Amino acid sequence: MPRLSAWAIRASLIYMILGFTFGGLMLWNKGIPLDPLLWRFLPLHIDFLLFGWVLQLIIGVAFWILPRFSRGTQRGNIKMAWFAFLMLNTGIWLVSLAGLGLPNGLTQSAILAGRLAEAAAVLAFTFHAWPRVKAAGA
Ligand code: HEM
Repeated sequence: MPRLSAWAIRASLIYMILGFTFGGLMLWNKGIPLDPLLWRFLPLHIDFLLFGWVLQLIIGVAFWILPRFSRGTQRGNIKMAWFAFLMLNTGIWLVSLAGLGLPNGLTQSAILAGRLAEAAAVLAFTFHAWPRVKAAGA
């Protein structure tokens, strides 16, 4: 397994555990109220599970198994895929920290920067993966 896939898949598993834990706490809190502040975990729950767990697992596995090139670097533009990994995780943490509450004025900027980083990750990974998506023998 390539190094990037190992990092992305391990990170996705950690996000899964954290995201499910936050979800479980919120669910518990709905049935047996513990503390209203637990609702603050909702943005983390959403970003950790949708992007940290699901999207990152897909990226990790796709980088590993998409067709490789017979010439040059086997997996094409590897730097672009690493860039996507870094941007995705930076974006997740910026949005999640903003959801937990940052000092005045920083929250909106952090959400905007985080969403831009996540969008950059999606574009970068598409740029990386596009040339690798081809029928066998093509
Ligand atoms: C891949 C797995 C999951 C994803 C992508 C996911 C995503 C989401 C999203 C997008 C919301 C916001 C829904 C809304 O505001 O309308 C949400 C809410 C919630 N999720 Fe999850 N979730 C996942 C798994 C779980 C699990 C395993 C649990 C519990 C153990 C859980 C518990 C909750 C709770 C309690 C809410 C708040 C519901 C409410 O507003 O009353 N989620 N989740």
